[in-house]
Amino acid sequence: MTDRTNAPELTVVVPCYNERPNVAPMIAKLDAALAGIAWEVVYVDDDSPDGTAAEVRRIAQTDARVRCIRRVGRRGLASAVIEGALSSSAAYVAVIDGDLQHDETRLPLMLEALRTGDVDLAVASRHVEGGDNAGLANRWRHVLSDGGIWLAQKFLPVRLTDPMSGFFMLPRPLFEELAHGLNGQGFKILLDLVLSSPAPLRVREIAATFSQRVAGESKLDALVMIQFGGLLLDKICMGLLPLRFISFALVGGIGVLIHLAILGGLRQTTGLGFEIEQTIATVVAMVFNFKLNNSITYRDQRLRGPRLWRGLLLFMAFCGLGAAANIGIANTLYESHTAWTAAGAMGAVIGVVWNYAVSATLVWRSR
Ligand code: GDD
Ligand code: MN
Repeated sequence: MTDRTNAPELTVVVPCYNERPNVAPMIAKLDAALAGIAWEVVYVDDDSPDGTAAEVRRIAQTDARVRCIRRVGRRGLASAVIEGALSSSAAYVAVIDGDLQHDETRLPLMLEALRTGDVDLAVASRHVEGGDNAGLANRWRHVLSDGGIWLAQKFLPVRLTDPMSGFFMLPRPLFEELAHGLNGQGFKILLDLVLSSPAPLRVREIAATFSQRVAGESKLDALVMIQFGGLLLDKICMGLLPLRFISFALVGGIGVLIHLAILGGLRQTTGLGFEIEQTIATVVAMVFNFKLNNSITYRDQRLRGPRLWRGLLLFMAFCGLGAAANIGIANTLYESHTAWTAAGAMGAVIGVVWNYAVSATLVWRSR
């Protein structure tokens, strides 16, 4: 009879993008740290151009504890983690970075805490006694990190000294329970989990160091922080407005400011006449909005190469229509004796909703 009882107790989910050189060393480290525990590792790779997935599969051929999920046409740390965790049938799932920055020797301590049943979530923290933050890329990253922690603490139902941690463990059934409420965008999956739980989770923090990255490069930057702000906003709005819509509307708001600044500048320095100046300001603001939406609102389906130019043309065409609808509706309302403020606001709202609807379905459609 084949032995069917060697199911893993722990699934280690490793989101990865361009981590090829780190795969083999990471698995060796897990092997050492998790001696005596039935574990498996699931790499969730977003089709890294450096061949990370192929490297994982190469090792998987001689090690049945190693699995790979390769996602094509998608990007995103949080959604990668969700898919990896949902592929598990083990009692516990852990999430850890694939770049050797997290201290994998903390895993058994986390597991021990969860096995007692008194803890719902074990989190590696750089901010409890014994933890440290030395590996953060630069001063700017420290500011982002501290700012994010401060902001998160304001909204969190539980005390988490390191809410930005990408290294944690929880019972797999609990993850499944929370899965429906997860936002899945951006990279703050831990926050998303904590905020999605109807009852406050019982958290145990475990001190951990965060070391320097040796190979490859960090994928998280200021844009990611903006997305993080969006995640908090989404939770505050209780999911009533789609996060993408909020982001789209905020970008639109910035676009209006840019439009006015350019128009003002042109009016003072050139004598082109209002119509031409207004046209220039409109085009610049549209290109700017398109760029921002492409790198923030639709970061996970970002357009590149020829598709970028096609997207820009479509965006300008549809948003032009949206502007026409905005003006038309506002005019009609104004003429039927609606106050100018109400007429203007109505026009603007309809314009934004229209622009959002067409760009979500036609410009950044997920092919
Ligand atoms: N599948 C997938 N898709 N994986 C990704 C993606 C993606 O789009 N982006 C990043 N990853 C993987 C990386 O390959 C790495 O294994 C892990 O996610 C973390 O990404 P890094 O780019 O190394 O992030 P970091 O080192 O800047 O940030 C880490 O520290 C932060 C604390 O400041 C992460 O652990 C964060 O979660 C943590 O908040
Ligand atoms: Mn890293």
